[in-house]
Amino acid sequence: MRIAVLGGGPGGLYLAALAKQLDPRHEVHLWERNAPGDTFGFGVVFSDETLGGIEHADAAVFAQMEREFARWDDIDVHYHGTVLTSGGHGFAAMSRHRLLAILQDRCAQLGVRARYATPAPDAAALAGEYDLVVAADGANSLTRQRLAGVVRPDVETRRCAYIWLGTDLVFDAFKFYILDTPAGVMQVHGYPYSADASTFILEASDDVWRRAGFADLAAAAAGLPPGHSDEPSLALIRDLAAEVLGGHEIAGNNSRWVHFGTVRCGRWHDGNVVLIGDAAHTAHFSIGSGTKLAMEDALALAACLHEQDGVPAALAAYEAERRPVVASTQRAAQASLEWFEHIGSYTGQDPAQFAFNIITRSRRVTYDNLRLRDPEFVAGMDRWFAGQQDADTDGAGPGVRPPMFQPGRIGGLRLRNRVIVSPMDMYSARDGVAGDFHLVHLGSKALGGAGLVMTEMVCVSPAGRISPGCAGLYTGEQERAWRRVVDFVHGQTGAAIGLQLGHSGRKGSTRLMWEGIDEPLPEGNWEVCGPSAIPYSPGSQVPRELTAADLAEITGQFAAAAQRGARAGFDLLELHCAHGYLLSSFLSPLTNQRTDRYGGPLENRLRFPLEVLRAIRAEWPAGRPVTVRISATDWYPGGVTADEAVEIARAFAEAGVAGIDVSTGQVVSEEQPAFGRSYQTPYADRIRNEIGRKYGVAVIAVGAISSYDDVNSILLAGRADFCALGRAHLYDPQWTLHAAADQGYAGPGAAWPDPFAAGSRKPQAGRTDGPRPRLELIREGTPGTAHARWRPGSAP
Ligand SMILES: Cc1cc2nc3c(=O)[nH]c(=O)nc-3n(C[C@H](O)[C@H](O)[C@H](O)COP(=O)(O)OP(=O)(O)OC[C@H]3O[C@@H](n4cnc5c(N)ncnc54)[C@H](O)[C@@H]3O)c2cc1C
Ligand SMILES: Cc1cc2nc3c(=O)[nH]c(=O)nc-3n(C[C@H](O)[C@H](O)[C@H](O)COP(=O)(O)O)c2cc1C
Repeated sequence: MRIAVLGGGPGGLYLAALAKQLDPRHEVHLWERNAPGDTFGFGVVFSDETLGGIEHADAAVFAQMEREFARWDDIDVHYHGTVLTSGGHGFAAMSRHRLLAILQDRCAQLGVRARYATPAPDAAALAGEYDLVVAADGANSLTRQRLAGVVRPDVETRRCAYIWLGTDLVFDAFKFYILDTPAGVMQVHGYPYSADASTFILEASDDVWRRAGFADLAAAAAGLPPGHSDEPSLALIRDLAAEVLGGHEIAGNNSRWVHFGTVRCGRWHDGNVVLIGDAAHTAHFSIGSGTKLAMEDALALAACLHEQDGVPAALAAYEAERRPVVASTQRAAQASLEWFEHIGSYTGQDPAQFAFNIITRSRRVTYDNLRLRDPEFVAGMDRWFAGQQDADTDGAGPGVRPPMFQPGRIGGLRLRNRVIVSPMDMYSARDGVAGDFHLVHLGSKALGGAGLVMTEMVCVSPAGRISPGCAGLYTGEQERAWRRVVDFVHGQTGAAIGLQLGHSGRKGSTRLMWEGIDEPLPEGNWEVCGPSAIPYSPGSQVPRELTAADLAEITGQFAAAAQRGARAGFDLLELHCAHGYLLSSFLSPLTNQRTDRYGGPLENRLRFPLEVLRAIRAEWPAGRPVTVRISATDWYPGGVTADEAVEIARAFAEAGVAGIDVSTGQVVSEEQPAFGRSYQTPYADRIRNEIGRKYGVAVIAVGAISSYDDVNSILLAGRADFCALGRAHLYDPQWTLHAAADQGYAGPGAAWPDPFAAGSRKPQAGRTDGPRPRLELIREGTPGTAHARWRPGSAP
């Protein structure tokens, strides 16, 4: 096979070497525009996992790399004059220059015909001459641009600027230095890569970077010939980071300021041309994965070429194998880069919380995961979190325990732990009356250990229902039905119960969820309404645009329902301003196109929801909290964004809510949500750190949070004060009690109802009739003290 490789970075060189190694008959040609020695950059980091793959594929390359590695285990977070260390992370790094030299030598040894200091010919021209053309030409790939029509690239330029430098200061750990400069917060990412040098990356959000004067310096440096660094910026950095450097030097290597661009492509190959490495996808350097991904791509492509019959099958197999891995890494990288973009909002955090937060920012490293790496670090975090609790919130005092079992408060309401059963419509009411189903559903969730159980969206009028099966609170019978549920929860469980009030708006008059979600009823539809006459989807009813008189009437319905809810004894009232229902559709510019005082700028779009909030607050007992649920993004261009959600949260906080429940989306049917594990948490995180802490408002995270590990991580990092779980509670009504059992915890905040106590241990699974392990007695310590230990099969 004749293979052309465009670009001699880690991806291109490694692919060329592997292809030749797997089949020496291949003719492999490689073009690299730089000379072999003029490598730009400093150190690159690898995880143990990638190294395992490299070792397996090419032991010769691995052996050489291994000799060069700087290895370390710790991450040090330098923040507000303190250093917090988390151990057990297992990093290896080496100089990019050396890595390329090793790969270049290997290519030469195996007979790859490499042309350095030579720009590659056009891929399209090579495609006719070669069986396979591998474009490994980096983040600014010319090949990708030329194949744009097929590979559909998307390059998303981000908000932080960074510069990649080297220093003769040899760090003894992966270092995060948080610099409080006059222009704002900047961060240094530093790690050693040889016995005498470290990588030193300075990064700042665009506004801080501009305020510091770097934008002007960068503009001047743009005119420099290739190979020159932006020296005036380096001079300023020496000044800003003088304390970190402690007299050591920093140096550039063609170093300029860059705004990171995340590259994604709809497809990675066209005919016999394939993109690998940064040409196909990038991942922010803060998770240290660019070189790893490029080399893993090379490994996978070489293996597919070897295993598959023909180039088309190999390229299809390669893409199928690598896409999910790359997507997962890009999600983690995205979470990490977004975290750094908003670093300024975390700098009020206590150093311990800040350290946990920065280490878990990509959500790949978690509470449990850190406990394995460094138990003392996590134990210290548990102690710190316990110390943050009000001594009076828990009869048992602020004892050390898994964070999710610490008691918490929403306004004046004390909850036994941090788990909430998220509101879930059961579509099972008759004429809006909650029945036995609701009693058992909510009752069993309250028995299951959560701190707070929320009702489904309870509707304020018949027309405000989503479907004929939705529950309401507009009649005396409905009020009595809810009283029965509330009494059960209060009388038989340690949970509190909250009422979610809402109006369906333009998403009303639809079928039961399992008969066709958001689809109009087959018959007997009622009129739907909204801020503007825009239907939810092409098949939906066109809503009637509400008049000022209609708005006043609906406000009255909310107030009356709140009054009934208070009489029914609910502990908390949540106003549903999310998911495209009536109040949410006033907030979103996609659904609210009014030209009166209720439409247009955010201040106007907030007017009706705030009027309703004030009306229910007036009817609701002063000592009981009111919260609001919002959709923090519409996941659609022109809709509510994360930035606007912060302002929406601010407006509600200023209007006196005690909590903000941060959901997203479901506002327009064309939405493009980025689903994934705890995918809505970054929105809660911003709202908690920018609004919640300032106003003393509790923030609830929700959405694909399903493990106790994620709950503990979210709480410790300060991303939210509470976690609401929906579907996980449908799967397991005793989710919280089971989470306690799984963590070996049986203290306050996780008490089993007395009648269930006999079942509080996880039942044994598997056969019980097998041979029993023998008991081995080990005598140690003081004579006569026997420690019994089971050891399967050992002699008596
Ligand atoms: C600040 C910063 C820090 C980073 N830190 C890390 C880290 O710690 N760990 C890590 O793993 N990764 C890190 N990376 C990412 C890493 O540099 C890249 O992801 C990785 O090098 C990708 O390998 P590649 O082979 O795909 O592309 P590249 O390494 O970019 O190689 C592409 C090559 O193609 C050549 N080329 C381009 N066009 C042509 C042409 N027309 N003709 C001939 N040759 C051409 C280029 O000269 C280049 O040598 C970092 C990146 C940056 C910017
Ligand atoms: C069956 C079902 C019904 C729901 N009904 C409501 C509702 O009435 N009000 C509401 O705010 N959210 C409702 N949701 C959304 C959940 O409260 C929650 O935000 C969502 O399911 C994401 O959390 P999860 O991944 O833990 O399930 C519902 C979700 C489900 C699965």
